[in-house]
Amino acid sequence: MSKDISLFEQATAAVAHIRARSSMKPAIGIILGSGLGAFADQIADAVAIPFAEIPNFPKSTVPGHSGRLVMGTLEGVPVAVMQGRVHAYEGYPPEEVTFPVRVLGLLGVKTLLVTNAAGGIRPGLKQGELVLISDHINFTGFNPVVGENDERFGPRFFDMSEAYSKRLRMLTQRTAKDQNYEISEGVYLCVLGPSFETPAEIRAFHALGADLVGMSTVQEVIVARHMGLEVLGISCVTNLAAGIQAEPLSHEEVMETGRRVADRFTQLLAALVPAIDKETICA
Ligand code: HPA
Repeated sequence: MSKDISLFEQATAAVAHIRARSSMKPAIGIILGSGLGAFADQIADAVAIPFAEIPNFPKSTVPGHSGRLVMGTLEGVPVAVMQGRVHAYEGYPPEEVTFPVRVLGLLGVKTLLVTNAAGGIRPGLKQGELVLISDHINFTGFNPVVGENDERFGPRFFDMSEAYSKRLRMLTQRTAKDQNYEISEGVYLCVLGPSFETPAEIRAFHALGADLVGMSTVQEVIVARHMGLEVLGISCVTNLAAGIQAEPLSHEEVMETGRRVADRFTQLLAALVPAIDKETICA
């Protein structure tokens, strides 16, 4: 990523490249977490652009994050889907981790749907369960909007008291109920990683009010809120957190659980996207 031109100009160049390849105007941006990438196969009229071909885009290095932006429609709604993301633990600075969200915002999405794999901390959470993120705790030590503020993206100071839209959470709960299951809410705590946590850390996070732990999402959500996007966050509990389950944690387990819930996750999103679009137009 070049330091010679502003982040805004870099994002504008990425947007120009994407628009040259797809004339679609996405209403909703979707970021797919570990093991959940298969959802992008549901996109109709898809134009898939590898991250490597988009100017200034960071390139993912993690297995399971294939790294493509898929433009297309889902149930008739124009969407821009990030199949894969980059993480701070790969060595990217916060402005690069969040660069795709800047681009989605400038592409014109009004809603950002972020998904991730998470470890379950709250007692009773089950492997494979989907949980709505009600709030987050940023334990990464980074904030992506540190530094000079560019007002073209958003204001210097901005509210985070309802970072995860209550309206969209209620809509998701209704949608899950229509599909015959309950979806609970939880607080997501983000660590830097890439080592998984120790059992002592998990006990400490539990005491702090965290229900879920993961290594993504909060930086993206901060930037989305900076740009005034409405955010919905969904975690897939791919494993119980360290010290809660008997077996050691592994990336393979995370990916395997993601794949196992792919159908239910896809079904939820397929119903949710048109519902969000309808409510956002009516609002
Ligand atoms: N900890 C951190 N990140 C994760 C986990 C976990 O247990 N599971 C999936 N992502």
